[in-house]
Amino acid sequence: MLRNTFLYAIGICFLMLAKVKNHLQGYAAKNISVSEVNKCIEYDLHIVEHWSFYLRNYTHDANCLVGKHVLELGPGDDLGIGLYLLSKNCSQYDACDVHDLMQFTSDSFYEQFFEKLQTINSHADIDFLKAQLTAAKQGNASKLNYKVSNDFNLATAFVEDSVDLVFSQAAFECFDDIETTISQLNVVCKSGAILLTEIDLQSHTRCIRDWDPNYIHRYPRWVYNLFWFRGIPNRLRPYQYKEAFERAGWIDVSIVPLKRLDNLDKSYAGVHKDFADHKNQMDYLSIIFCARKG
Ligand SMILES: C[S@@+](CC[C@H](N)C(=O)[O-])C[C@H]1O[C@@H](n2cnc3c(N)ncnc32)[C@H](O)[C@@H]1O
Repeated sequence: MLRNTFLYAIGICFLMLAKVKNHLQGYAAKNISVSEVNKCIEYDLHIVEHWSFYLRNYTHDANCLVGKHVLELGPGDDLGIGLYLLSKNCSQYDACDVHDLMQFTSDSFYEQFFEKLQTINSHADIDFLKAQLTAAKQGNASKLNYKVSNDFNLATAFVEDSVDLVFSQAAFECFDDIETTISQLNVVCKSGAILLTEIDLQSHTRCIRDWDPNYIHRYPRWVYNLFWFRGIPNRLRPYQYKEAFERAGWIDVSIVPLKRLDNLDKSYAGVHKDFADHKNQMDYLSIIFCARKG
């Protein structure tokens, strides 16, 4: 009891700090700064392999990327993921974000990225990829189509009925209005399109997430809303994503826990009553969520 009261108070300080930091510094995406180029490159390559692994499991198709028109939501700091997907013969990479985080990424990042790509895939058409990157940076038509849109309106940003695969990494939990995003996905996705996203359900604050990962769930909505800023976790639980997609006509929902608390009692200790029911799966800290557009 005393411990939970203490953690409640500490958590308020972290919520306040996160809001002040966001106000002063703006939105910061990754734990890795773009100056740590090698780490960023490894991260991008790893994310694509990670998605591919879960996508193959979901589709039972070894060639599930080839020829596919991909849309990534909330891509973060660089276009490495898009370039790697194109090198794996995806036909098109679209991406949308509310923050223009790519503007800080240096040309030397991409030079090193292409060098790395050449070493892992000698067949990759680096000249083609460089041309796509240049066209994208100049705002010309490109297979690498990155849009920054403050209203995050996917339906106006991309071509209707064009997308085969939607990917996203640690971004869905930041979205303002999941129902609207799903209804816009319904416009741009083809029938049978697949969505695969890793959703980070726990606190995003680095100093606290390891020892009190569910601290953001200690507060009633009105308290949490006092510290709201764009990009703060929306606190939606897995069942709520599932229900929202199913309501919009998506089928075959699969939820795979990636990171989980092993002590169920601890997972629920101190959480607000809105999250106390076991349907909230408070032991799930991150998940892979897949669904198919019906
Ligand atoms: C934690 S970062 C993850 C970035 C990248 N996917 C990665 O793995 O490094 C969250 C991403 O979601 C975007 N984002 C934050 N708030 C958003 C919002 N309200 N609507 C749409 N995207 C948002 C951010 O700009 C960022 O690209």
